[in-house]
Amino acid sequence: MKSAENRKKFEELLRRWILLEEGTINEANKLTRDSKNPMVRAVIDLLRIDSEKHKHILQTIQQSLTSTVTFTTDDLKVVGSFVDKHMTIEKDAIETAEQALALTSLPIPKLLLSHLLGDEKSHDAYVAELNDIKIYMAKGTD
Ligand SMILES: [Fe+2]
Ligand SMILES: [Fe+2]
Repeated sequence: MKSAENRKKFEELLRRWILLEEGTINEANKLTRDSKNPMVRAVIDLLRIDSEKHKHILQTIQQSLTSTVTFTTDDLKVVGSFVDKHMTIEKDAIETAEQALALTSLPIPKLLLSHLLGDEKSHDAYVAELNDIKIYMAKGTD
């Protein structure tokens, strides 16, 4: 982080973002509490669960700001084996999702599946980026 001012602004943005995610989670929980329709819950869960994920990751980043993060060789092994496995799994998931999507014309499942396919593409890209960043992680190992 460049300056103390930027750092303060960054922390403030993380706090604001977490509040937005919490707003989505609370609203989704309130709306679906009494719903007996699993499809209604699914269309809302698609965002609610992502908000849970975003909140969790943002909080981890927030906590990491108060300490120095280093990676041990064991940490790298964990990340490495995750990357190795998921290089294939996420590509498989994309292919499977594309085939499933092509076979449905029902509007709600189609909408949900097309967003899940987008997620799978994003997972695939993420794993590739993670593979690249392993070099950076290795610099800070013991
Ligand atoms: Fe979000
Ligand atoms: Fe995935």
